[in-house]
Amino acid sequence: MSKWFLFNFILLIILLWTVISHFSFPNLQTHIWFGLAGALLFLYNWTRNAVFETIRNVPNRKTKVRLARLSKRVVTVHRWTGNIALAAILVHGSLVVYQYGFTIYNNKMLVGVLAFVALVFQITTGWLRLYKPTIKLRYFHLYTGMILFFLIFLHIIL
Ligand code: HEM
Ligand code: HEM
Repeated sequence: MSKWFLFNFILLIILLWTVISHFSFPNLQTHIWFGLAGALLFLYNWTRNAVFETIRNVPNRKTKVRLARLSKRVVTVHRWTGNIALAAILVHGSLVVYQYGFTIYNNKMLVGVLAFVALVFQITTGWLRLYKPTIKLRYFHLYTGMILFFLIFLHIIL
């Protein structure tokens, strides 16, 4: 079992806790719902890393094959959930800027913008690796995902 299942679970709990404990819950403002949707879709896609790592490390061949088959089945969904996450975050960021105005002196906003840039990079390398799979692109898609994980974590706890 990959340690990433645990890390993803911790991020999920922190994310849900932050949103639920918001003073206005459940009548949250629209930008928070969009931020939550984007973060959940990211987590769904990122769990692919945990599954891939488990496939690489599991000693039982039967389990390996079963997991690989399951993973193949969800890959078509993967590209669309990734794109919808980007669309949700575009709406989230636009609503935030519309409401509060833009400033890089707000740490939450600054880290949000960095996460947005990383997300655009992630989606781009995803499409590139679909049509032209190279080792370099594979690592870019994987490591940007990791950077994105930490930026989103930071964005939520700030
Ligand atoms: C991958 C990118 C992003 C994700 C996953 C994300 C996710 C979230 C989530 C789930 C929340 C609600 C929870 C909380 O208050 O901490 C939130 C709040 C917030 N986000 Fe983002 N966000 C992203 C990008 C951005 C961008 C680009 C901006 C700014 C331009 C931004 C600015 C903010 C601000 C200011 C809040 C606080 C809103 C409030 O409390 O009224 N975020 N974000
Ligand atoms: C939130 C956005 C996304 C995240 C977090 C994400 C994450 C991941 C991860 C962790 C893997 C496994 C990496 C490995 O070990 O090689 C992967 C594989 C892949 N991703 Fe993404 N991805 C995202 C969006 C996209 C998009 C938009 C596409 C567009 C086509 C895409 C295409 C692919 C492809 C083709 C694979 C290889 C799948 C396979 O071999 O079964 N990804 N992604």
